[in-house]
This record gives sequence, structure tokens and C-alpha cells, in this order.
Amino acid sequence: MMITFNILTIFPDIFAPVENGVVGRAAAKGIIGIRKINIRDFTLDKHGNTDDYPYGGGDGMLMTAQPVTDAWRSIGNPGLTVLLSPKGPRLDQCKCMELASLEHITLVCGRYEGLDQRIIDSIVDEEISIGDYVISGGEIAAMVLVDAVSRMVPGVLGNENGGTNDSHFNGLLEYPQYTRPEVFEGIRVPDVLLSGNHEEIRKYRLAGSLLETFRKRPDMLAKRGLSRKEAELLSALIPGESARIIALIKE
Ligand SMILES: C[S@@+](CC[C@H](N)C(=O)[O-])C[C@H]1O[C@@H](n2cnc3c(N)ncnc32)[C@H](O)[C@@H]1O
Repeated sequence: MMITFNILTIFPDIFAPVENGVVGRAAAKGIIGIRKINIRDFTLDKHGNTDDYPYGGGDGMLMTAQPVTDAWRSIGNPGLTVLLSPKGPRLDQCKCMELASLEHITLVCGRYEGLDQRIIDSIVDEEISIGDYVISGGEIAAMVLVDAVSRMVPGVLGNENGGTNDSHFNGLLEYPQYTRPEVFEGIRVPDVLLSGNHEEIRKYRLAGSLLETFRKRPDMLAKRGLSRKEAELLSALIPGESARIIALIKE
């Protein structure tokens, strides 16, 4: 079973970021499918327009219902239809994992000041946002979603861990990493990473993950909680914070 992303857009030529690198290679191998549908090909407007003025006045233009709806109907099996929109709940790793189990997902990329509400009411199942700010079109948001979801599809990441060590996968941020040389401008790679002791390396990395998350995203740690062992590991690194760390223990 493979996931196909159908992307409805008036800018089908700007998707290079998901047509290269890890995601592009997965598409070339047929592990995922990326199909772009040019909304403009479906307009019945004699000037080829896909936008018009909002009724009641107001800033900017809106995408008209006819071309988007006809483009969507041409897909055949759209699966879950998602509108990229600043009004939706924010995309997170959990949602990406959920979406990665689908076979078909259709992404509607808004432009201008958005879409005629009738499009949303009739074809959209869910709205998803990439963050609490406004960008100029849904294409960048769709690429973010395609990339993040594809990484959760088995076989897309060429390594055995399949992204499970990445930040956010288990409610923690990734531990700090080092590559060659062993000494750079007088700063050494931590000895434990050169020791070859896998259990010690595992513990060191877990401690690093916990510390990164404690310092940079305490909200994530508050949500996830700590086991007693994890709390001990973290307290050993920052004894002064023991009280705050103990308060995070969930059993
Ligand atoms: C300029 S925005 C329109 C914003 C709209 N007037 C509003 O205030 O909600 C144009 C399109 O960009 C996309 N977009 C903008 N911000 C987004 C975000 N944070 N997440 C996902 N898509 C976004 C949506 O598809 C939207 O229809």
C-alpha cells in the first residue's frame, strides 16, 4: 500500500523541494505518489481566471468555486481532502503519523485572500495549518505536509530507525550530534561517543534528549512527563533543577 498525495494548485511548477532529496527519491521509487493538478486547466472563465472579487467588498480576491471543484472531481479517488489554511489545527508529528497511514490524500492550496466558502463546505474534510502566521499560498504548507508525512511512510527514510530518533517522534527533541573531526578549534567530541560502548552511548543520548527538551521546550516535557529513571538521568546533569524535574515524573 502506498500513499498518493493529490495536490490542487494554480502553481504546479513550484514543488521542487518535494521533487528532490529524500522525498523526491521515494516518489521516483514509487514508495509515495505525488500528483499535481493544475486548477487553471479546469476554469471555464473565458479569460482563464481562477479568482474574483469578494461579495460584500473587502481586500483582495478569492478563488472561485468552479475550477477548484471541477479539478477536485477529476481526481477520481481524492481520499481525505485537506485545505491548507491558517484556520486549521496546527500540524504536528502525531498528525503526520496518522496521515501517513492513508492511501489517498488531496491537498487544496489556497491563494489570494482564500477560497469561496462553498468550496470548503462541499469538498474539504479538514483544514490544517503549518503555524500561527499567514503565508501567501498553500503550496509551501502543502510541501511541508508532504515532506513531514512522507518521512513517516515505511521505506522513505533509508535507515532502519525510520525517523524514530528525530525530534518530536517520542515527545522529545533530538540529542546533540557530532561528526568528524574529533577536535575542531580545540573543542573535543564527547569521549563517550568514541568509546564504542553502545549502552553508555544510548544513555548519554537519552540524557542529551531530555536536557535539550527541558531547556528548549519545557512545554513538551510537561505534556509527556518523565519516568523515574529519566528524571534521575536528567537530575544528574542539572542537580540545581531537581525540584522541577521531580515534578515532571508521571507514573
Ligand atoms: C494569504 S493566505 C489567505 C489568508 C486568509 N485571508 C485568512 O486570513 O485566513 C492564502 C492561502 O495561503 C495558505 N496559507 C496561509 N497561511 C497558512 C498557514 N499558516 N498554514 C497553511 N496554509 C496557509 C492558505 O491556503 C490560504 O488560503
